[in-house]
Amino acid sequence: MAKDCVVAPAPKLHPLAMPTARLPSSLSPLHAAPALALREVHLSLQSTSGSVHILRGIDLCVELGETIGVVGPSGSGKTSLLMVIAGLEQATRGTVSAAGMDITRLSEDRLAHFRREHVGIVFQNFHLIPTMTAIENVALPMELAGDRDAFSRAEAALIAVGVGHRLHHFPSQLSGGEQQRVALARAFAPEPTLLLADEPTGNLDGETGDEVINLLFDLHRRRRTTLLLITHDPALADRCERIVELKDGLIVGDRKVPGRRPGAQAVL
Ligand SMILES: Nc1ncnc2c1ncn2[C@@H]1O[C@H](COP(=O)(O)OP(=O)(O)OP(=O)(O)O)[C@@H](O)[C@H]1O
Ligand SMILES: [Mg+2]
Repeated sequence: MAKDCVVAPAPKLHPLAMPTARLPSSLSPLHAAPALALREVHLSLQSTSGSVHILRGIDLCVELGETIGVVGPSGSGKTSLLMVIAGLEQATRGTVSAAGMDITRLSEDRLAHFRREHVGIVFQNFHLIPTMTAIENVALPMELAGDRDAFSRAEAALIAVGVGHRLHHFPSQLSGGEQQRVALARAFAPEPTLLLADEPTGNLDGETGDEVINLLFDLHRRRRTTLLLITHDPALADRCERIVELKDGLIVGDRKVPGRRPGAQAVL
């Protein structure tokens, strides 16, 4: 399937809360070219006991605005796949194209620029900078990208995810759910075209996790961000339009979730 993928430059959609209904029809994920294409991607990393062949020939084509649940047993390569897609690990073989670029051929500088422009990542452990306040954590990537409005955009994003009353708290002064909301704001504020979430509710209680997930899908729906969501929770994967299953570094399942339409999976 991925051999037929043609990756179009991803559009930058501007407003924080642009209703889906106002999107031009040309941006409909049903008609747009793929956002992401992986062809024969392999990843081997060195460990003390030798080389580990982690991804063993991944072909994956993702449509613009699509939501994909990535599932599979522990150690199957889900996080490694996310790292390769984000350009945080370089594929040993094969190509990764995102936002109209073959990122396997980019220099470190251009990769960093690609990530700032196009990719938002939410990790299980939040990965906030402990010595920075909530607003500084969110503003930092935009500041690095030269955005003069970084702080006002960060504030708007934090208000949008419901932690506007915690702008000047440090991560240690925030609950787990609040920290994950800050991490979501950080991922979304620069308006990425691709959002990668690695077990974003893994460290949250059920209710807080549900709130964070609702927020994630709501933000996706409003901005038509392409979403890859790694999860061990089948019910959560079922909220995506499509589920990709990994095993031993290979895709062993790829199916559409019945009844899920693009944009229809926002808040249940
Ligand atoms: N830096 C590394 N060096 C060597 N091997 C690694 C490295 N990172 C991961 N691995 C190995 O690659 C395999 C896949 O790891 P990965 O973290 O991608 O799995 P996963 O599917 O995300 O698992 P989980 O569900 O437990 O998070 C594992 O066997 C892991 O031990
Ligand atoms: Mg993992």
